Amino acid sequence: MATSSRPRVPVIAGNWKMHKTRAETREFFAAFLPLVARTSECEIVVAPAFTALADAVAATKDSPVMIAGQDLHWEPQGAFTGEVSAGMLVETGCRAVLIGHSERREHFGETDEMVARKLRAALEAGLRPIVCVGETLGEREGNRTEEILERQFHGAVGALTARDFSPILLAYEPVWAIGTGRTATPELAAEAHGFLRTLVATRFGREVAAATRILYGGSVKPGNIRGLMAQEQIDGALVGGASLEAASFAAIVNFREG
Ligand code: 13P
Repeated sequence: MATSSRPRVPVIAGNWKMHKTRAETREFFAAFLPLVARTSECEIVVAPAFTALADAVAATKDSPVMIAGQDLHWEPQGAFTGEVSAGMLVETGCRAVLIGHSERREHFGETDEMVARKLRAALEAGLRPIVCVGETLGEREGNRTEEILERQFHGAVGALTARDFSPILLAYEPVWAIGTGRTATPELAAEAHGFLRTLVATRFGREVAAATRILYGGSVKPGNIRGLMAQEQIDGALVGGASLEAASFAAIVNFREG
């Protein structure tokens, strides 16, 4: 329970991907909020589908849960069928947004340049960006993990000032660990986080790096969260599958009690 020794306040975020209707969203929060009512010293974020955002915002109104979009477009409005702007997310009550998730990169052709544009739009709108980076299995096996993380990091945040960068949360999500049940070991994740923190220090200074929260994502479950959070470099988790069920997500949020 040595929570005060953590250098940064942990963040546990749920990414619901293309899951949950509006009714299911309301049911989730009715079950989840009582389970985390006594949780302190941990920020909680949930990113539902666009259609359920308003329900999620209403359900979490008087709670510590922050609602996030899963994506956004970089333009404020225009002829971009199917897209959603930063202003639309803010108006709906979102306070954060995921950017550059590997599924966006892999299935929807999102490039580092698009990630950078989305990031600027989010920052200008006052949304807290959660910027996702991570290597594929082939890249890891080819010893290219650091090269990929460096390219994705600089591609996304390279043009920002330290002040612009400071609200950003980074999420290290090795693609080979997402939805596969194959988690990175805590040591391996911490090593990648340490590398990312070095990149932050080199680009924005040691003080900013020391304050930057880096979340781990990829098959995080109630059974492995404590081991991950025991690593000083790991400041939280971005949880997919295990965030869909109130009890398992609450167990992850309440990792100190496990
Ligand atoms: P899983 O937790 O289902 O592996 O998903 C991780 C993820 O992609 C979170 O953004």
